[in-house]
Amino acid sequence: MIYLKTPDEINQMRSSATLVSRTLGEVAKWIEPGVTTLKLDTIAREFIRDNGGKPACLGYEGFPGTLCIEVNDVIVHGFPSNYVLREGDIIGIDTVVEKDGFMGDSCYTFPVGEVDAAVINLCRTTKESLYVGIEACRPGKRIGDIANAIQTYCEHRGYSIVREMCGHGIGRDMHESPEVPNYGRRGIGPVIRNGMCICIEPMINMGSRNIIIDRDGWTCRTRDHKPSAHYEHTLAIVGDEVEILTTFDYVEEVLQDRFI
Ligand code: MF3
Ligand code: CO
Repeated sequence: MIYLKTPDEINQMRSSATLVSRTLGEVAKWIEPGVTTLKLDTIAREFIRDNGGKPACLGYEGFPGTLCIEVNDVIVHGFPSNYVLREGDIIGIDTVVEKDGFMGDSCYTFPVGEVDAAVINLCRTTKESLYVGIEACRPGKRIGDIANAIQTYCEHRGYSIVREMCGHGIGRDMHESPEVPNYGRRGIGPVIRNGMCICIEPMINMGSRNIIIDRDGWTCRTRDHKPSAHYEHTLAIVGDEVEILTTFDYVEEVLQDRFI
């Protein structure tokens, strides 16, 4: 069942989304060769708590971190660890913040130092496909229209789409109905309507779309170990408008000319 939000609830969603966006901006300041992903996790956890939020991933079905850490071939749901970031890595940071009972969810894939041009292209296309998906998200259209727009955009550029993981509705829970896949047919799925809040999050691979899950039961990687990129926004349908509740402005202010 899809929970449509009232204007008051959407206001609360705005506030959670702002905090998660600011959290990614804070983490961005620390991303460089030599830093551990555990350090990034600590920065995020403290920042969220200092700003009146709760790290929603921490303890969620046993997940051990505030941040999902996605280095190189990791697609989603990697653990913070003592891994030390290296020049040439890419790192996706995906996190969910709860504030006053509502969730904000966002993800950004960062370059670490100088990154291979082909990998930067993967990141850029993935990020562009997020906005292509958002453009296709209009009241009266369907979830399949978003999915198809993302798939078409990425496949035309030679990349593959992860199928096992999807975007989702969001609100008081981090995962609500509907599922928002990144592939599929136009004109199918639930109708997009006033009051819906959803996360769009393309996960795009340089090589094949196949995945493996590590023995930790969480870390999802590309089977061919080629890189994968991931960007995510939380959106609300407000009347006839689609409002992007999260923003990459905080991240991009920190990255300056290094942003993707
Ligand atoms: N944005 C991620 C998702 O939608 C957040 C997962 S939090 C975790 O799946 F705790 F499940 F890892
Ligand atoms: Co999400």
